[in-house]
Amino acid sequence: MTFLSLAPLRGLTDAIYRNTFARHFPGFDLAMAPFLTTFEGSKVKSARLADLLPENNKDLPLVPQILSKDAHQFKILATMLFDLGYETVNWNLGCPYPMVANKGRGSGLLPEPDKITSFLETIADMPCRLSIKTRLGRQSSAEIRELLPIFNAFPLQELIIHPRLGIQLYKGKVDLEAFAFCLAHSTNPVAYNGDLCTFADFQRLSRRFPEVQRWMIGRGALCDPFLPGQIKGVPLPSHPLVQLKAFHDELFTLYGQRLDGGSHHLGRMKGVWFYLAASLKNSKKLLKNIQKTKKIETYCALIDHFFAKEAQWQQQPPPPNNE
Ligand SMILES: Cc1cc2nc3c(=O)[nH]c(=O)nc-3n(C[C@H](O)[C@H](O)[C@H](O)COP(=O)(O)O)c2cc1C
Repeated sequence: MTFLSLAPLRGLTDAIYRNTFARHFPGFDLAMAPFLTTFEGSKVKSARLADLLPENNKDLPLVPQILSKDAHQFKILATMLFDLGYETVNWNLGCPYPMVANKGRGSGLLPEPDKITSFLETIADMPCRLSIKTRLGRQSSAEIRELLPIFNAFPLQELIIHPRLGIQLYKGKVDLEAFAFCLAHSTNPVAYNGDLCTFADFQRLSRRFPEVQRWMIGRGALCDPFLPGQIKGVPLPSHPLVQLKAFHDELFTLYGQRLDGGSHHLGRMKGVWFYLAASLKNSKKLLKNIQKTKKIETYCALIDHFFAKEAQWQQQPPPPNNE
């Protein structure tokens, strides 16, 4: 059985995006929320949890994610999430950005096996289950070789591996040899994540790793929202543009209702188009014009014109380089 999750993309896959996506496109079984950071003390501002409230996440099961190097604070936040109804919480050990990693969080913790062991020992009695999302290391894939026996000592719900190093950010190739090593040496269920952008990618990866049942897709699904359905065997609809436009229009309306001021609203839609444009022929000029515009009225005119006159669906788009 193929189990598909939507990867967390901070600034993009918030509750509105995740749930609107699930209402318009089949295929995903689950979404992981972008990370929350831990905080001092035992109270959290309710606004920080709004994205995770069950009433805002009715259309797709969700796993919340925490970015932290402080096990006690992690446990407090994970327990709050458990009280909201989440049985599993994910620990982010993959974030590559220097301002996170240089402070020993995300992929910055990967060269510190002792700290990871003591973190896991401290949170072992929390009420919810733990899953981990990791890279191969910060500087070297030797780091994951040392970490796998540590992870194996804890019953994880799953170990999601994006087979790159932190210092690579999103550049360079995924290291499938190192992923194969992890698969062979993990006693926890392993999920694959990284550069799965087309159905052909899925066929190639699933042939190479037939034992993998769990797959996580980020940018590939934001570029081609039909991809998860295609992987699950759902045929492409006869009018994909109609479905894409309906998805776009609902996102536009919901973000307009939630975000104060045109610039936030516009900023969010620019993020959507950064990826979605890859699925549409003739979208280069549109993307350039959308990125330039400062007025919501101009944005609407551009979109209306594009869908009425120029848009053409293009399957298996190349992924945009987000660096
Ligand atoms: C803009 C952006 C934001 C991201 N935010 C998160 C995040 O909050 N938590 C996380 O674990 N990974 C985050 N990631 C990494 C993705 O979840 C995923 O691991 C990565 O994009 C590789 O998968 P893909 O090639 O399918 O996109 C982010 C990636 C991007 C490009």
